[in-house]
Amino acid sequence: TSLSKWTHYKMEPSEEYLIKHRGCYFATKLITPEGIDSLEEFEIRDSDVFLATYPKSGTVWTQNILSLIFYEGHRNGTEDIVIMDRVPWLEYNVNNLDLANLSSPRLFFTHLPYYLVPRGLRNRRGKVIYVARNPKDVMVSYFYFSKFMIALETIPDLNTLMERFLSGKGKVSFSDKSSWLDHVRGWYTHREDFNILFLTFEEMKKDLRSAVLKICNFLGKRLSEKELDSVVEQATFENMKRDPRANYEFLPDTLVEKSKGQFLRKGTVGDWKKIMTVAQSERFDMALKEEMKDLPFNCLWDRQ
Ligand code: A3P
Repeated sequence: TSLSKWTHYKMEPSEEYLIKHRGCYFATKLITPEGIDSLEEFEIRDSDVFLATYPKSGTVWTQNILSLIFYEGHRNGTEDIVIMDRVPWLEYNVNNLDLANLSSPRLFFTHLPYYLVPRGLRNRRGKVIYVARNPKDVMVSYFYFSKFMIALETIPDLNTLMERFLSGKGKVSFSDKSSWLDHVRGWYTHREDFNILFLTFEEMKKDLRSAVLKICNFLGKRLSEKELDSVVEQATFENMKRDPRANYEFLPDTLVEKSKGQFLRKGTVGDWKKIMTVAQSERFDMALKEEMKDLPFNCLWDRQ
């Protein structure tokens, strides 16, 4: 597949790489405001599966798990299809696929906030898997990611990034759809509108097999013990990192500086402790704790 929208992604320093539309930032070169608005009308089938995340929360990981579940652990002769074609990115559709006419069951991923997704999804058609991650790890993951992605502004230091991250005003991501808190809270508080399963990066890390099983149950997919083992085995960090299909090695040099990093960087829980100071961590907690007290994710992270 040619990565048509990405092949010529390189930006001039003077170009504005993000546009703001309906409260969110989008990559100028990948979508227009009209394109964003038209997503609401995108027709949903009951068999559709959407993976929704805030960037750096385990998207590629879960994208691979879904692909493994639906493509029988790559045992059915579809080994060479890149992950972006198996589980395309709804809003950017970087490979220019004919999304409306893909065969069922269709798999998609999105970084959109809940209120910009296709209307059908919000009427409980199709299924959504939302993956959340400790925001400190999200932020740290993004910090390294921004050095590696050419299309992203390199953030000089963690303090600068943190202030933007916490204020929700920062254009902190290539695909930043408003703030982390708004994203997670929006999806969670509107959960009744969707047919949705919430997972955390941390629980996937702790017990991948149970997480995969949870996904299968939610999607009504029955795998044998052996098939399940094979999905879990292929979705570990080490094995995905080794697999060029799974670790996004297909990204062109115009987009990523391969000497500066990888999509699969560390894949751990609590890496923030290595780089955030105590003062930064406290500042972070102060800014988010109160806001997050009604969300179920807090307790999971406190123990890490
Ligand atoms: P780190 O930068 O902390 O290593 P996204 O896909 O949403 O951009 O998220 C990227 C993060 O998910 C990266 O985190 C990456 O290493 C991690 N990741 C990807 N695949 C993984 C896997 N199989 N196991 C654990 N973490 C994984």
